[in-house]
Amino acid sequence: MKSHTQKEMDTQLIFLLCISLLHFRPPATTAATATNATGGIETDQIALLALKSNIKQDPQGVMGSWNESLDFCQWQGVTCGLRHRRVTILDLSSRGLVGSLSPFIGNLSFLEEIILRNNTIKGEIPPEIGRLFRLQILWLSYDSLEGEIPANISLCSNLVLLSLRNNMLVGKIPIELASLSKLKTLIIDFNNFTGGIPPFFGNLTSLKTLSASSIAFGGSIPDSLGRLENLLFLFLGGNELSGMIHPSIYNLSLITYLSLNDNQLQGSLPQNFGLAFSHLQNLQLWGNQFTGSIPDSISNASQLEHIEMQGNNFTGKVSVNFRGLHGLLFINLACNNLGSGEADDMSFLASMANCTNLEHLALSQNQFGGSLPSFVANFSTQFQQLVIGRNQISGNFPSWIGTLVNLNVLAMNY
Ligand SMILES: *[C@@H]1O[C@H](CO)[C@@H](O)[C@H](O)[C@H]1NC(C)=O
Ligand SMILES: *[C@@H]1O[C@H](CO)[C@@H](O)[C@H](O)[C@H]1NC(C)=O
Ligand SMILES: *[C@@H]1O[C@H](CO)[C@@H](O)[C@H](O)[C@H]1NC(C)=O
Ligand SMILES: *[C@@H]1O[C@H](CO)[C@@H](O)[C@H](O)[C@H]1NC(C)=O
Ligand SMILES: *[C@@H]1O[C@H](CO)[C@@H](O)[C@H](O)[C@H]1NC(C)=O
Ligand SMILES: *[C@@H]1O[C@H](CO)[C@@H](O)[C@H](O)[C@H]1NC(C)=O
Ligand SMILES: *[C@@H]1O[C@H](CO)[C@@H](O)[C@H](O)[C@H]1NC(C)=O
Ligand SMILES: *[C@@H]1O[C@H](CO)[C@@H](O)[C@H](O)[C@H]1NC(C)=O
Ligand SMILES: *[C@@H]1O[C@H](CO)[C@@H](O)[C@H](O)[C@H]1NC(C)=O
Ligand SMILES: *[C@@H]1O[C@H](CO)[C@@H](O)[C@H](O)[C@H]1NC(C)=O
Ligand SMILES: *[C@@H]1O[C@H](CO)[C@@H](O)[C@H](O)[C@H]1NC(C)=O
Ligand SMILES: *[C@@H]1O[C@H](CO)[C@@H](O)[C@H](O)[C@H]1NC(C)=O
Repeated sequence: MKSHTQKEMDTQLIFLLCISLLHFRPPATTAATATNATGGIETDQIALLALKSNIKQDPQGVMGSWNESLDFCQWQGVTCGLRHRRVTILDLSSRGLVGSLSPFIGNLSFLEEIILRNNTIKGEIPPEIGRLFRLQILWLSYDSLEGEIPANISLCSNLVLLSLRNNMLVGKIPIELASLSKLKTLIIDFNNFTGGIPPFFGNLTSLKTLSASSIAFGGSIPDSLGRLENLLFLFLGGNELSGMIHPSIYNLSLITYLSLNDNQLQGSLPQNFGLAFSHLQNLQLWGNQFTGSIPDSISNASQLEHIEMQGNNFTGKVSVNFRGLHGLLFINLACNNLGSGEADDMSFLASMANCTNLEHLALSQNQFGGSLPSFVANFSTQFQQLVIGRNQISGNFPSWIGTLVNLNVLAMNY
């Protein structure tokens, strides 16, 4: 990397020398030195043309402007630095491009951002990208990339965002990536890696977003993830993860979106769940094998908007006080073993009186008994879906349901 920096500095130096030499030397010689001076620029042009030649379909004609009659800094999708006239950003997202990524991309040594998301870029990620030590953003999601993630990407030590969502990548996620200490966003969902969620992710301590749903099958949640104390978004759904949530995970005190759905996780949630995750806005635990009660402390996560805990084996009376959850939009506790069959099973609904944004409430297929509270004062006017069938609820049809003017689904066949 040092030699790279050195090379660029040398190029600049020669460029400066040339400007002064111009006054003294005959034109023939200046032409020769000028070629040297602009060497980096020529390399960029050669590299861009190599990239173009690997694109086989360009339905929007984006690369029509990529010809030598126009300065390449003006080619569509290309941004150059003002000082060096070297390519700093390559942004060709959503252009319908079909092709592969030329290894020449590794010669665009001033690149800071590569954004090729949502095209049909096939083939492997060229390891030459590892030569781009200025690279901060590598955004290749929704393409058709194959093969393994090249370990050389770990040489892009300034990388802040790496997104490879929705490709066809396979193999082990290279452990070398553990050195990407500036990485804030890692998005690798919907690929076909082996080896489960790698424990070295816990070394990426700058991470704010770790999005790794449906990437690999099996294993458990590595306890090392508890070291990611800056983490705001954690998505690990659809990975067939088993075992319990390790206590270290409850150290992720800033987490706002926790998605562990559609795995085979077991065990009960600790009583202090909502205190540990007091910034939670979106909780996705559906489709696991969790047991035990819904912790009352959920009410302490006062910014909660979505709660989806359906399809587990949660048991017992729901005694959460929803009074403080003013932002609640969506709550699904269906398909568990909740309720005691007692007369006051549904009384927690009364505490939802001030959840004025609530749109969806599902409690079906549980063991709830008793009757619905006769009033839920000022239940949300936004309310759209009430799904409470397949329980043991009895009693009169409460009149407040008739006041839900926006209701479009009412399932309460009990
Ligand atoms: C400049 O380019 C010429 C011809 O390609 C080469 O002979 C010469 O060594 C180069 N000079 C420098 C300083 O790189
Ligand atoms: C080169 O690009 C310019 C700008 O888009 C265009 O006007 C011109 O026709 C192109 N030339 C060739 C030979 O494709
Ligand atoms: C993906 O690109 C296509 C054009 O090729 C565009 O129509 C579509 O909106 C893009 N999708 C996203 C999610 O950006
Ligand atoms: C650029 O990269 C390619 C492939 O990685 C290489 O063959 C080529 O010699 C490099 N240099 C220049 C100046 O294009
Ligand atoms: C990958 O990195 C190694 C050094 O770690 C280097 O020797 C090798 O040339 C790099 N590969 C490419 C294709 O740049
Ligand atoms: C991913 O792996 C599964 C199981 O090995 C296989 O059925 C599926 O086709 C693979 N998908 C891709 C995109 O490679
Ligand atoms: C991860 O961090 C731990 C503790 O700092 C260290 O011992 C380990 O070597 C690191 N792992 C990798 C793959 O860098
Ligand atoms: C949680 O973090 C505290 C310090 O913030 C640390 O002492 C403790 O060991 C961590 N717990 C786990 C289980 O990692
Ligand atoms: C947690 O919520 C309960 C019930 O809403 C409340 O009584 C308690 O004071 C809250 N605790 C904290 C630490 O906010
Ligand atoms: C749910 O838990 C109960 C005991 O609490 C157990 O009898 C039942 O088999 C469990 N159901 C499932 C589907 O795991
Ligand atoms: C709803 O809010 C009002 C006003 O803030 C308060 O007086 C009332 O006790 C609340 N009701 C419930 C059930 O939390
Ligand atoms: C319900 O709304 C009415 C006005 O629409 C208001 O007078 C009453 O205080 C509210 N009740 C509660 C418990 O917030």
